[in-house]
Amino acid sequence: MLRSALLWASQNKTIARQLPNYRFARKAVTRFMPGENVDDALRAGELLRAQGIPTVITRLGENVTEASEADDVRMHYADVLATIAGLKQETQISVKPTQLALDIDEARCVDNLKSLADSARRVGNFVWIDMEYSSYVDRTIAAFDNVRDQHSNVGLCIQAYLHRTPKDLEHLIKSTTAIRLVKGAYRESADVAIQSKKDVDEAYMKLATRLLEETATGREVGAPPAFATHDLNMLNRITTTARNLGIPNDAFEIQMLYGIQRNEQLRFAQQGYRVRVLISYGSAWFPWFMRRLAERPANLWFLVKNIAG
Ligand code: FDA
Repeated sequence: MLRSALLWASQNKTIARQLPNYRFARKAVTRFMPGENVDDALRAGELLRAQGIPTVITRLGENVTEASEADDVRMHYADVLATIAGLKQETQISVKPTQLALDIDEARCVDNLKSLADSARRVGNFVWIDMEYSSYVDRTIAAFDNVRDQHSNVGLCIQAYLHRTPKDLEHLIKSTTAIRLVKGAYRESADVAIQSKKDVDEAYMKLATRLLEETATGREVGAPPAFATHDLNMLNRITTTARNLGIPNDAFEIQMLYGIQRNEQLRFAQQGYRVRVLISYGSAWFPWFMRRLAERPANLWFLVKNIAG
């Protein structure tokens, strides 16, 4: 119930307007992001690089309502890619389609994505595309297919909780192995998404196994698959399955969010796995922060402690 309430709050415009004004909320957010500016994310990336952990950075924000806002986002990321090129960091970018105009004009979103893939290709970098609410999945896959036709340096996130995802994976895997598998972070109804955690976990494992079997054939297109989860039980099952299939530790990625399971990030990296940490930045953090709280309602304590503080 608490998860549903937090996910409901993530879509509430009044709370979205009010909460970020409070100091305690801004402070609590720092548990999950190093700061609102891209420099904060790059500085945190530098510390992780020193520990042998590459990163992927994302500017928070979604559902832009003006094409010009999406153009600003595209130009921002193009600048960021140029900045990264001047650093030693192995840092990719991850973008949300609705931040690049998917809600307003699909063709424009595709153009924005292509432009970013071009910018990234010029500096040998890579663009991940996030998956948002289920109502965007068809359009996001269509946009991805369109970009993927001309660019191999793009990868797409898929969500295990959606009933449709096994079919989507079979479609995507024909053209790419650059797939980031997540459980899914949004509030979705039972007709589109699995509701019980246990069943989502099983769905995740089936999809992960399918991705690993493809990896075992030695066919890597674009980039290796990424298992984005903090679920240690799941990751143990994945690494065991990979070992049984004879897949080397560095033939797939483990991705986690900044600030979550830090010790485990390091432990996997020290064991020779490719670990990548996603670092968020930006001022539009409210819905994203609510989703992080919903993933682990115990995180509400950070908020409560900061109110008390
Ligand atoms: P699960 O929720 O079962 O958690 C397993 C354990 O991990 C918990 O018991 C807890 O210990 C720890 N944990 C999980 N979340 C935590 C949190 N917020 N704070 C503290 N501990 C936590 N989703 C989506 O719909 N579209 C997307 O594009 C992406 N992109 C993405 C990229 C990357 C790199 C990651 C890691 C995740 C995403 N997600 C996402 C989010 C994803 O769908 C999912 O909501 C979160 O990863 C939480 O689920 P877990 O797989 O970690 O498992």
